[in-house]
Amino acid sequence: MTMSTNANNEAEAGHHTPNAGAARSIDSLQHRGKSYPPSPEFTAAAVASADLYAEASDPQAFWAAQSRELLDWATPFASVLDWTNAPFARWFADGTLNVAYNCLDRHVLAGNGDRIAIHWEGEPGDSKSFTYAELTAEVKKAANVLAGLGIVAGDRVAIYLPMIPEAVIAMLAIARLGAVHSVVFGGFSAESLRTRIDDAGAKLVITADGGWRKGRVFPLKPTVDAALAGDPSTVENVLVVRRGENEIDWWGERDSWWHDLMGSADAEHEAQGFEAESPLFILYTSGTTGKPKGILHTSGGYLTQVAFTHRNVFDLKPESDVYWCTADVGWVTGHSYVVYGPLANGATQVMYEGTPDTPHAGRWWEIIQKYGVSIFYAAPTAIRTFMKLGRQIPDEFDLTSLRLLGSVGEPINPEAWNWYRNVIGGGKTPIVDTWWQTETGGIMISPLPGVTATKPGSAQVPLPGIAVDVLDDDGRAVPAGSGGLLVITKPWPGMLRGIWNDPERFVETYWSKFADAPDGPLYFAGDGARLDEDGDIWLLGRVDDVMNVSGHRLSTAEIESSLVSHPFVAESAVVGATDETTGQAVVAFVILRADQAEAVSPEDASEVLRHHVGSQIGAIARPRTIYVVGELPKTRSGKIMRRLLRDVAEGREVGDTTTLADTTVMQVISERLASAAGKRGPEE
Ligand code: WT7
Repeated sequence: MTMSTNANNEAEAGHHTPNAGAARSIDSLQHRGKSYPPSPEFTAAAVASADLYAEASDPQAFWAAQSRELLDWATPFASVLDWTNAPFARWFADGTLNVAYNCLDRHVLAGNGDRIAIHWEGEPGDSKSFTYAELTAEVKKAANVLAGLGIVAGDRVAIYLPMIPEAVIAMLAIARLGAVHSVVFGGFSAESLRTRIDDAGAKLVITADGGWRKGRVFPLKPTVDAALAGDPSTVENVLVVRRGENEIDWWGERDSWWHDLMGSADAEHEAQGFEAESPLFILYTSGTTGKPKGILHTSGGYLTQVAFTHRNVFDLKPESDVYWCTADVGWVTGHSYVVYGPLANGATQVMYEGTPDTPHAGRWWEIIQKYGVSIFYAAPTAIRTFMKLGRQIPDEFDLTSLRLLGSVGEPINPEAWNWYRNVIGGGKTPIVDTWWQTETGGIMISPLPGVTATKPGSAQVPLPGIAVDVLDDDGRAVPAGSGGLLVITKPWPGMLRGIWNDPERFVETYWSKFADAPDGPLYFAGDGARLDEDGDIWLLGRVDDVMNVSGHRLSTAEIESSLVSHPFVAESAVVGATDETTGQAVVAFVILRADQAEAVSPEDASEVLRHHVGSQIGAIARPRTIYVVGELPKTRSGKIMRRLLRDVAEGREVGDTTTLADTTVMQVISERLASAAGKRGPEE
């Protein structure tokens, strides 16, 4: 079955199997206690309505109508979708628009220049607000600064900044010029930054001296310096925002202060329209190999989808809501739901620089109280962390302004969902569990608030205009009540347009598993999913060698190659083990080189290697635990059996070992680890 239009899929669910009716009625009885229909008051005032699903029965006509309604086009499009060169899609290709104009100028021209665009809160307690008129003025100046540094349409600019307003201003200034940004999360190492700069061929890097995190300044400019040291790169200039006030080195030819150039920049800048398919950004994400993929997004289709989803999934009333998405702009959630979606919709939002626990564990709730946040979007890992700390912390703050909560990044377990709704949402707010990916650009599967009766733990239904399916390995749709692989069956406007510099990998990674479907290739998301008896979708996590740690994607292969690059290590295997707080945690198994095994204790080796991975890739990739072992479990053809290592890492009885080349290996590993009782690294 293809689920594309039904709010609850009740009608369709009945068709799966002859006796599904009976099964469904039992199941829906069980669910009755567990699902939360929207209140009549919420529904009456809701932005979304059930009609949207019917309107989207022709997805192309639906997206065209949404795009015309939500965006201002410099040249209106006539062509909606060109899928003749599938899987390379072109949406609205004969139209032109300026993305930054859509996020800024037009709101000012419509008389909303005095509305707050961003309430920014610095970690040390400093704060600053920008109206739409002020933000527009800043972006115009920044566009002139970048043009002065030689940036023209199509050029790539890397951004390596903390969560400060300049990050948003820089992204929009780049977009305004038709240039392409590549934001690199500030937690990534010099080496990771360099790889991304080289792959994109960036001409300019925008960074800061440092940013605030956990009560301290962490340096950023020194990391950029390290990234650019050595072989010459494509980078001609580095623009530095002053934030940390930390000491930094300076290259006079290459470096300039942001405030110097902004101070003398022309305040006038007229936005020019660019083709809808002109690249907007590249964002690197981990795949199943060691090399990160540069996911490419373009302008018109992407902006249409993020504007539509931001408005309808979050029930946005731009005149009255205060919206807060806690994601960093270094991730796709920050691109789509801090920058482009909210600003295209003229929303007022909060942006916070630091960590949730600084200077006290109630910081997030204090911010919600301070700004009267009404819509809040965060990751399950944070919710679980707060749940562990106890409700007395949020209970100290007035959270009654909240009227809608969102979740993103990984499955949210029903216990955390209920806690979120009851403790943070006062037992009344709808929760939207939103499934999507860096590649999808915007939200794909989510309840619609005011329409869908929400179910703790399930992302439930594809949005209007989105068509997904759950298939078995042979490409057959699974019946309700079963699990399989999640696929997207029709092109959608925010879809990635490719992998930067690597069209073959794009086709191979996403479109080859179900390439021969009758209506064209299907997009394979890499996630497992289960359909319940109502036809609602439950996401089950990745089915490939990609891990999800605190909602961030990490590749086992990338961490393995980092480990074997260290002189201690002969061989390594990395698995994602279930973790109560972070969803998954990185657990590594290493075999030390013979000459090292004598010289260094397993404890010391583990510590050294954890730091090695942290400095090579970034702190998020640092394994929680590294086990030093004598052997790794392999099949006769030499493939490492990660399933068995996951059993060990999760403290389970080891599963079937009969396909191992040497069936005693797992017993040896288990015994060895039991005697060492696991060398767990300190919590960060
Ligand atoms: C992977 C994408 C989407 C922005 C943040 C992560 C997992 C994401 C959910 C959800 C269950 C989810 C999937 C997906 N995921 N949202 N609501 N329920 N799983 O973006 O780094 O591109 O990772 O995150 O496994 O494939 P990303």
